[in-house]
Amino acid sequence: MGKLLGKTALVTGGSSGLGLSTAKTFAGEGSIVYITGRRKADLDRAVTAIGRNATGIQGDVTKIEDIDRLVSQIQAERGELDVLVANAGTIEPQPLMQASEHNFDKTFDTNVRGVYFVMQRALPLLTKGSSVILLSSIAATKGIPGYGTYSATKAAVRSFVRTWTAELADRGIRVNAISPGPFDTPIMDLQADTDQGRELVRSSFAEAVPMKRLGRPEELAAAALFLASEDSSYIAGIDLVVDGGLTAI
Ligand SMILES: NC(=O)c1ccc[n+]([C@@H]2O[C@H](COP(=O)([O-])OP(=O)(O)OC[C@H]3O[C@@H](n4cnc5c(N)ncnc54)[C@H](OP(=O)(O)O)[C@@H]3O)[C@@H](O)[C@H]2O)c1
Repeated sequence: MGKLLGKTALVTGGSSGLGLSTAKTFAGEGSIVYITGRRKADLDRAVTAIGRNATGIQGDVTKIEDIDRLVSQIQAERGELDVLVANAGTIEPQPLMQASEHNFDKTFDTNVRGVYFVMQRALPLLTKGSSVILLSSIAATKGIPGYGTYSATKAAVRSFVRTWTAELADRGIRVNAISPGPFDTPIMDLQADTDQGRELVRSSFAEAVPMKRLGRPEELAAAALFLASEDSSYIAGIDLVVDGGLTAI
């Protein structure tokens, strides 16, 4: 029997990478899944790839009106939400001396403001016993040159998990973070300007991992399923690190 049978899940940024793999896994476990993203063509492809029980709702997490429209549609169609994965995120590495205001605002608007207001607006729909998963990153606890804005946003996300765990405990809502290490998804391509640079990003991350490889999205999805399901019923407020041992040694 599916671990999420009859549940309703929302995965922001579910049109690509870790979000798509997570949405696929959830649907395979019996959940109705809503996924979001800004690019309609990618969203449509992802809905097709998930194959069943999936709905794509186009939208930008930096825009409150898009978040409200997303939540309204889920409310109208399902009435409630059992799992929320706040996964949509972006990166644009820039060292401090060169970083633009645009870089700062875009990274914080997507990775922090987006997570905050998706959570706030979805909260009325979250059922007793529901599970919220926020995508942080191992970058939150590392000093990586050029990652100033990105790492700070992911530290903020980790902080939300603590506050919301305390704030929402009496409603029976569990909130946890997942911190991925380097996974092979399109976000890797945002970290260099040339094919050679992108290859270098991938190979240097893989080299830094004790397992000497990048993570596969389905390995992240398995962790998300654990936190989404009753298998983790006594786990709240944690940061589940899925990084092939990178930060453990
Ligand atoms: N892959 C890794 O190595 C890694 C490591 C640590 C943490 N993470 C975190 O894991 C999460 C997923 O990353 P990924 O690797 O799966 O990246 P990805 O393949 O680039 O997917 C990012 C998703 O977020 C969506 N998105 C981006 N900006 C958005 C916005 N403003 N509004 C709505 N949707 C938006 C994208 O769709 P559109 O562009 O069409 O909007 C896409 O669906 C991110 O939060 C990332 O920071 C990833």
